[in-house]
Amino acid sequence: MKSMLHAAKKIWNRPCIAIDLGTANTRVFCSENGQIREKPSFIRHADENGVKAASDDYLSYLNSKLFLTPLRGGVIVDIKNAVKLLRPLLKETRKGLRHPISLASAPTDTSDRERELLARAVLDAGASYVAILPEVWSAAIGAGMDVDSPHAQVLIDIGEGVTDLAIIRDGRLIHASAVRTACGDLQKAVRSAIVSRHKVCIYPAEAERLTHAISSFNQGRTINPRWITVQGNDVFNGYETTIKINEEDIIRAMEPIINKIITMIEISLKKLSKPIYGEISKSGICLSGGGAFISGIDRLIALKTNLHVRTAPDAIHSVIKGHIETLNLLQGHKNWWQDIVWPRLSS
Ligand SMILES: Nc1ncnc2c1ncn2[C@@H]1O[C@H](COP(=O)(O)OP(=O)(O)OP(=O)(O)O)[C@@H](O)[C@H]1O
Ligand SMILES: [Mg+2]
Repeated sequence: MKSMLHAAKKIWNRPCIAIDLGTANTRVFCSENGQIREKPSFIRHADENGVKAASDDYLSYLNSKLFLTPLRGGVIVDIKNAVKLLRPLLKETRKGLRHPISLASAPTDTSDRERELLARAVLDAGASYVAILPEVWSAAIGAGMDVDSPHAQVLIDIGEGVTDLAIIRDGRLIHASAVRTACGDLQKAVRSAIVSRHKVCIYPAEAERLTHAISSFNQGRTINPRWITVQGNDVFNGYETTIKINEEDIIRAMEPIINKIITMIEISLKKLSKPIYGEISKSGICLSGGGAFISGIDRLIALKTNLHVRTAPDAIHSVIKGHIETLNLLQGHKNWWQDIVWPRLSS
């Protein structure tokens, strides 16, 4: 009888899933199988038209032109393709008629309309309910921070499209700021600097590789800067070509974007009261998101803020890990998703 009840409960209980819908990467966790599925946040035109795309990596530049990216700056800008991105991931979590209950997240500066769009996309992709948390809140939990601590702590998530900062204290977000610029803009800045200087249009994947390859952002000018080889197309004749780029030119191209991020951090910290600032001086700053891996960014932020800066363990998965922890905590509670409300944030 007991096992029958258990089986019936399993049939009727809806699976719970967690979604980190990022500008560059989408991660979906399913409570039933305990697995995280991850894929880049793009749709190919070919997928869109139902035609098989050339599967070989023939001209990544050309391929990049065939990609549709449904998110920009951490928010959905193309709902139709956001649904197409999510639907296969959610389908894998569905068993029979049970549509999953979903926990998703958004940057702290999102408008009601932007969060409604996110909820709509998740529902249209196959979820039965969706609750939305601030991304940085989950990132803090996933980074191992004690969000209930009575001492204020700072988490900064640097992603592909948005940099989000949160001050957390006593189980609440007491302050948040965001700027819709992050790693994607660093890569764009590097590409345009190379076009104007070398008249070569490098492939997006190459620009990404260059931003990963710099030895450090915060070491000043080097005596013998490295030269890095990249591939692209000559803008005049279109031929594929290989050029060598000076590492310092890459760093210089990235600087205006990094400065925007640093300015947002400095302005946010200046707004804090003395007692809160005092608490932060002890707890320091924790970095998450792919941008936490930009070489030297931790030292640069430490230098500019005079605070201790550390990188979260597995920084790129902090948000989804925080979602999973939240799901584990809430799942036993009846209709838990109805209790999640977007916090009133001061910025
Ligand atoms: N070692 C590295 N150096 C520099 N950048 C890196 C490194 N590793 C990852 N990144 C960058 O991190 C970005 C992806 O980060 P992440 O997955 O956190 O973004 P996202 O969650 O999709 O975006 P967002 O949260 O802004 O919507 C990519 O642009 C990637 O190139
Ligand atoms: Mg993210």
